[in-house]
Amino acid sequence: MSRPKSIILLSGNGSNLKNIINKKKLGFINMDIDAVISDNPNANGLEIAKKENIKTFVIDSKKKLSESLNMILNEMQIDIIILAGFMKILPEDFVKTYSGKILNIHPSLLPCYKGINTHKRVLEAKDSFHGASVHFVTTELDGGPVIIQGKIEVNKYDNEDTLKEKVHSIEYEIYPLAIKWYVEGLLRQCNHHFLFNGVKIDSPIENISNIK
Ligand code: GRF
Repeated sequence: MSRPKSIILLSGNGSNLKNIINKKKLGFINMDIDAVISDNPNANGLEIAKKENIKTFVIDSKKKLSESLNMILNEMQIDIIILAGFMKILPEDFVKTYSGKILNIHPSLLPCYKGINTHKRVLEAKDSFHGASVHFVTTELDGGPVIIQGKIEVNKYDNEDTLKEKVHSIEYEIYPLAIKWYVEGLLRQCNHHFLFNGVKIDSPIENISNIK
């Protein structure tokens, strides 16, 4: 079988992209990154991609999002679309076309705190735990089946910055793992659930190896 082909969509810093590239270099994930696409021309993630000689595209803000994405993707046979801090909501028709092939990382323990400002909302609610979730993307915002989650403990000294850092360190573990499972054919979406090695799983896999 040829190497799975991926594209990565992002809007900002790109630390998850960098981590995925590193995991690829280490041989942990066996796939090609055919392109990095951003809606933000100033995204640092684009610079990271360029340094690695990965093709980059900036979405034309004057065009409809699905039109721009389809123009880029039509030329490629893509196996997996990886959202890594992409701040635009993907259009319904696009999500339907690539159903079961789009993964996202979200900075909360879904289904809690869908949407933005998750660290702030966790602090305001005085939650004891926070974390990150990898899920398949469906037409419901941050609502697709959750594959794997990692938890962190929130302590009284935490603020938005410390939570962001702790959550990122969780993301760097669980996202490459889910991507690896996907490209190795272990993971598939099945409506509101997912299959792991052909077995239907109803709740997220918990990465409990080290609660930080
Ligand atoms: C991550 O926290 C991810 O969960 C969210 O956007 C952030 C992207 O961070 N979707 P980075 O650009 O990869 O550093």
